[in-house]
Amino acid sequence: MTAKVFGIANQKGGVGKTTTALSLAAALGEKQRKVLVMDLDPHCCASVHLRYYPGTVSNTVYDIFMNEQAATDSSLPDYGWLWSRIINTPEDLGFDFAPAAVQLADLDGDLKNRPGKGNILNQSLEILRDRYDFILLDCPPHLGILLVNALVASDMLIVPIQTDFLAVHGLKLLIDTVKILNKALPEPLDFRALPTMYDKRAKACTKVLDLLNTKMSDRLFKTIIGMDTKFREASAMGTVISKAAPGSRGAQAYKALAEEICTLW
Ligand SMILES: Nc1ncnc2c1ncn2[C@@H]1O[C@H](COP(=O)(O)OP(=O)(O)O)[C@@H](O)[C@H]1O
Ligand SMILES: [Mg+2]
Repeated sequence: MTAKVFGIANQKGGVGKTTTALSLAAALGEKQRKVLVMDLDPHCCASVHLRYYPGTVSNTVYDIFMNEQAATDSSLPDYGWLWSRIINTPEDLGFDFAPAAVQLADLDGDLKNRPGKGNILNQSLEILRDRYDFILLDCPPHLGILLVNALVASDMLIVPIQTDFLAVHGLKLLIDTVKILNKALPEPLDFRALPTMYDKRAKACTKVLDLLNTKMSDRLFKTIIGMDTKFREASAMGTVISKAAPGSRGAQAYKALAEEICTLW
C-alpha cells in the first residue's frame, strides 16, 4: 500500500471542499479502501461536522507542526507516535480522521523561523503512506504556510468548482498558486477539477460546465456533483451523506467519483 495523497483545494470558500473530503472518503471506504481525512482548515469545519469540537480534542494536526523536537533540534521527530495520538477511527464512518485546531490560523507566525517549514506535513506523512490507500487533505482557502504544506504533501489536487462564474475565480487563483509553487517543487503538481453544486436548470451552471468542458476537459472529472439538500442534513446529523441518505443523488454522485478515482489511481 502506498497512499495517494489528494489535496482538496480551492482558494474560495463554500465550494464543497469539506463536503468532498468527507463524502468521498466514506465512498472510498465503502469500496474497502483505507482512507484518512485530515482537516487542515483553521475553521475546523470538517472537525465540527464530525463532532470533534475545537478546544475539546486534545490532539490535532497542529501538533505535527508545533512539536518541540522539530523546533529545537534537527533530528526527525517521532511522527508515528504523534500521528497515533492525533488520528481517530470513528466506528461508523469507514475512514480515519485527523481533526484541526483553530490555532492553525497562527501557523505563519509560529513557523516564521523554522527551516524547511513548507515540507513539515510531507515529511510527517511518510510514515502513514504504507497504512492507507488514500489520504485526503481538506485544505484551507487562504494562501499561507498551511496551504503550502498541503500542496507540497499532495500527489494531486482535487479542485471543487462550484458551477457558477464567481467560483471559477477560485480556480484561477489556485492555478496561479500551483504555478508559483511548481517552480520550487521537484515534480509539478497535477490537478483535476470537480464540478459541484450543479443545477442543470440554472443557466449559469450549464454555462460554466460548458466553459470547463471546452477549456480543460482533460483535467475535469467525468463525475459531476449536483445540488442536494441532503448534504446539509448529513452535516446537521454529524455524519456523511452515504449514512444519512444512502439512496440520495448526492451519495450516488460521490460513489461515482470514488469509482472514477479508483479506476484512475
Ligand atoms: N452538492 C451540494 N449540494 C448542496 N449543498 C452542498 C453541496 N456541497 C456542499 N454543500 C453545502 O454547501 C456548504 C459549503 O460546503 P463546504 O463543503 O463546507 O465548502 P468549503 O469546504 O469549500 O468551504 C455546506 O453547507 C455544504 O453542506
Ligand atoms: Mg471547508
